[in-house]
Amino acid sequence: MQSTLKPFLSALALAAAAANWAPARAGQDTVQVLHWWTAGGEAGALQVLKDELLRHDVQWQDVPIAGGGGAQAMTTLRARVLAGDPPSAAQLAGFDIADWSHQGVLQDLNPIAQRQDWARKVPKALQDFDVYQGRWIAAPIDVHSSNWLWASRQVLTRSGITRPPATWDEFLADLAKVKKAGFVALAAGGQPWQIATMFDGVVLSTGGPDFYRRSLLERDPKVLDSPTMIKAFERMSALRSFVDQGYANRDWNEATAMIMQGRAGFQMVGDWALGEFNHARQVPGKDYLCVRTPGTQGSVTYHSDALVFFKRGAKDLEAQRITAEAVMSPEVQIGFNRIKGSAPALLGVSPESFNACGRKAIADLAQADARGTLLGSLSQGNAVPPAVKGAFFDVIAREFNGAITPTEAARQLAAAAKAQY
Ligand code: GAL
Repeated sequence: MQSTLKPFLSALALAAAAANWAPARAGQDTVQVLHWWTAGGEAGALQVLKDELLRHDVQWQDVPIAGGGGAQAMTTLRARVLAGDPPSAAQLAGFDIADWSHQGVLQDLNPIAQRQDWARKVPKALQDFDVYQGRWIAAPIDVHSSNWLWASRQVLTRSGITRPPATWDEFLADLAKVKKAGFVALAAGGQPWQIATMFDGVVLSTGGPDFYRRSLLERDPKVLDSPTMIKAFERMSALRSFVDQGYANRDWNEATAMIMQGRAGFQMVGDWALGEFNHARQVPGKDYLCVRTPGTQGSVTYHSDALVFFKRGAKDLEAQRITAEAVMSPEVQIGFNRIKGSAPALLGVSPESFNACGRKAIADLAQADARGTLLGSLSQGNAVPPAVKGAFFDVIAREFNGAITPTEAARQLAAAAKAQY
């Protein structure tokens, strides 16, 4: 495009987009939101946003699609958009946002983003996913991380464990102590996304941040099919021996309940579990412990939930605008995340109203970002595009369930990466 024309067209596009978001007539507006925040802590956090919208005369129309990790929600969303009936907004994360941004169905949020200065307030690591070709297409509401280990204080005490494990060998020894004491050593769910959540931490613990980056972010086949990756899968097989028989179809929050009720010692799951401890009013340090997956201290495997807004004609614009602005307000960022167990998606939000685990989540993210050890979570869709993620999940789940060996699994990851280039 001629250089003289470009600024003019950009200004035109900006004016058109701004006109789109100009406040329309007043009156009760509704916003219909598709999401998968159906566990207790998640619903409690979402209520903060719903209440804020009501204060702006916007009524929330809930479209909850149960199923941790969002697989079912994405299937429903695709069906609705294909049928020409998208919701006003939807929860998305990571590369799923990029997938939708190519479809030309998402609202351009730039006028709102510029008014609220999102570019200065949102960490670059999130903007990589929320901004597409210079246009904001997603409003990030949280930052979660997956390389966490949660533990029941009472189960550890009754198993003769006085402090949580810091290294992988200490972790294996503690799992054996808990099992010997008669408890479920590792509370887990067998859905592929949950097994992959454990895999995030195991790969990071086994190979370190550089290995995690080259294998799972850069998808280097030579690194995927390597002795280190084989060792990571051997560690996954070791974990398999510590879960109970009932793990196969267990939801993540049911596994967290096993920790809260003193039936299990450990759970390797993201800090959305903190939302469940918060919802049950359990106290960190007293009832449960939150530590980084042993051997991953100093690094964070992260992702961010965001709301995207679908083009549905002028009737929705006012409610969508108010919703996007509310999501990015400090009030909602603090109120939502301190319940959800995640960190705010805005820089500079005070952590003082968060509990000890929440404050650790915020501090660890800032430290990892500064150190260059903030890494996209494979399990939460922040490492590879959806098609590759699905192929990787299948390999990881088959190995965990003993259908293939660690050596075969490493080879199949490399093959899946090659196939998707
Ligand atoms: C993640 C989502 C979290 C939480 C978790 C369990 O994908 O980002 O907010 O919902 O799934 O379902």
